[in-house]
Amino acid sequence: MKRIAVFASGTGSNFEAIHDSILKGNLDAEIAVLVVDQPKAAVIEKAKNRNVETLVLSPKDYASKAEYETVILNKLQELQVEEIVLAGYMRLISDVLLTPYQNHIVNIHPSLLPDFKGKDAIGQAIAAGAKRMGVTIHYVDSGMDTGSIIAQESFEVQEGMSKEEIEHQIHAIEHVLYTNTLKKLWEETK
Ligand code: GRF
Repeated sequence: MKRIAVFASGTGSNFEAIHDSILKGNLDAEIAVLVVDQPKAAVIEKAKNRNVETLVLSPKDYASKAEYETVILNKLQELQVEEIVLAGYMRLISDVLLTPYQNHIVNIHPSLLPDFKGKDAIGQAIAAGAKRMGVTIHYVDSGMDTGSIIAQESFEVQEGMSKEEIEHQIHAIEHVLYTNTLKKLWEETK
């Protein structure tokens, strides 16, 4: 069983999907802690309802990013966390976490990388008139959505689809693809 930390900044639907998979026995892992950088994020309440420990921090309370990430690192080490899963965590990760967790940090991004990195990837893809859209799971490095790709799933955008419909389809893919990819990845590295 993998001891994992999930990092999130917002709604937390991917956090819930991963936790559901664990509860159903589909993913052999335990969420030791949910790390959140937005004290008002909806994901915090979701974790509390599920009895998952949370570490909620405001980066602006720290003198530097290194100091902020050191607090997180200490917690992860105390809890013997082996894998970090970013699920809507809207911050770049620095060497403080990248070095000890090299190749053990993954992210999910709502575009077919390398296209449409960064914020509002779905809006970027719509503005560009993309005919295929999808989801990427990748290792995390110091860049923005630049780490090597682990898995992708795409779909054809139907004529007249609204942004809401596209978002709905992307989230539905994410909630299945993340668990399935983590499962394969962690079985390979057991
Ligand atoms: C997802 O679309 C994910 O790909 C992106 O941020 C969104 C997070 O959604 N990185 P949620 O907070 O998991 O609902």
